Amino acid sequence: MSEVSVTKNAGGPAPAADRLVVLDNVNKHFGALHVLQDIDLTINRGEVVVVIGPSGSGKSTLCRTINRLETIDSGSITIDGKPLPQEGRELARLRADVGMVFQSFNLFAHKTVLENVMLGQTKVRRTDKAAAANKARALLDRVGVGTQADKYPAQLSGGQQQRVAIARALAMDPKVMLFDEPTSALDPEMINEVLDVMQQLARDGMTMIVVTHEMGFARSAANRVVFMADGRIVEEAEPNQFFNNPRSERARDFLSKILHH
Ligand SMILES: Nc1ncnc2c1ncn2[C@@H]1O[C@H](COP(=O)(O)OP(=O)(O)OP(=O)(O)O)[C@@H](O)[C@H]1O
Ligand SMILES: [Mg+2]
Repeated sequence: MSEVSVTKNAGGPAPAADRLVVLDNVNKHFGALHVLQDIDLTINRGEVVVVIGPSGSGKSTLCRTINRLETIDSGSITIDGKPLPQEGRELARLRADVGMVFQSFNLFAHKTVLENVMLGQTKVRRTDKAAAANKARALLDRVGVGTQADKYPAQLSGGQQQRVAIARALAMDPKVMLFDEPTSALDPEMINEVLDVMQQLARDGMTMIVVTHEMGFARSAANRVVFMADGRIVEEAEPNQFFNNPRSERARDFLSKILHH
């Protein structure tokens, strides 16, 4: 983990150039529900941030605002110094800069694994087909499913499909990767093969925001844990500090529930 630790921001705020994702006083409502409340969150380049919290606390909504799958009511979100674009090609490019991996794999069922990983490259990045295919094969090898390239998603296990989804996001050369409970739909024996790929990505220096209940991953890969409850960030700390010595009652209560079953 030393490669990750060196990117830790020991003293004070990072220089502006190192701030990759910045949420400043973000608020969002779903009708009467104030789902995100005064969210201030900065993710530095190369940092791995794990977001945890009870069901309904707003973790998925937070992720979805960062690539503008959800709009916000007030505040601002910038990626690499630029505010999120409203629509059109700029928005498509932003979505490519922000790789997203969901609980459900969302692969195109009628396209092969290889085509799934090529598609964004040819459509959004305008990469030519041969180059896109080469890159897709290299990425599929990297996540350990190179031999599955010509199959259709339904012919793969859940763990393999999720690794294809990761390869597909990586094919766009994203600046940051968002993971929203990427292993919670998987059978237990497939969880580690996906977490291993994510660990490797973290070690390679990818900037990552990861919503997960996998506390082992949080402990070993995260630079910082963000604990949310009721639409607020209640606590932020390094994993050791957070797990061994949570400051808030809410976090202590949450940890006692998830760590004791
Ligand atoms: N599109 C929507 N319309 C209305 N309410 C929504 C919508 N999406 C989410 N919510 C509500 O917002 C709150 C936060 O939801 P969100 O999915 O962000 O929570 P979460 O922390 O990801 O929960 P979980 O751990 O169960 O995934 C919940 O009360 C949810 O019911
Ligand atoms: Mg969620």
